Amino acid sequence: MDEKIRVAVMAGTTRAQRESIKAARYVFEFGKQIPEIDVVFVDPLDFNFPGDGNDPEGKDPRYTKITELADAFFIITPEYNHSFPGSLKRMLDSELKNYVHKPVALGGVSNGGWGGVRAVEALVTSVREMGLAVTFTSVYFPKVQDLFNEDGSLKEENR
Ligand SMILES: Cc1cc2nc3c(=O)[nH]c(=O)nc-3n(C[C@H](O)[C@H](O)[C@H](O)COP(=O)(O)O)c2cc1C
Repeated sequence: MDEKIRVAVMAGTTRAQRESIKAARYVFEFGKQIPEIDVVFVDPLDFNFPGDGNDPEGKDPRYTKITELADAFFIITPEYNHSFPGSLKRMLDSELKNYVHKPVALGGVSNGGWGGVRAVEALVTSVREMGLAVTFTSVYFPKVQDLFNEDGSLKEENR
């Protein structure tokens, strides 16, 4: 295979004190080490999606381009009230056709012991409706505040 698989790694929240960004960056850095893929990091903070829906005026052209070029997605979502954040939903909702029949892997994050499993389960329902094909397994980051070193690597005891 000559061409690399392009994977968009998506962070799931714009919250100012967000911890889940560390897990998203960890997945991104991990992906950079896999020779067969090209990874691009998608931070919902970097985009602007006015209003709701997927009408032209509610899109961000930079996000449109990323989703168009992506062969696959990896979404890392924190759990907010047993679901995923509205900012992630708003970003995902802004497109549709660019997702259809592409694979998506999901990662969950929480500050407790469950690792965001309920957010991931809730997200499965939405991404399926968007035409994405969800992978068989997901990855979970429980107690995210204790997992990473300052440089973003996993602490020794968590490897
Ligand atoms: C509005 C809100 C609701 C939350 N609800 C849950 C929840 O239902 N279950 C859970 O395990 N953690 C919940 N948390 C805590 C998150 O697990 C925690 O914020 C974690 O660090 C991941 O999200 P972050 O990127 O916002 O930091 C909630 C956090 C917020 C801000």
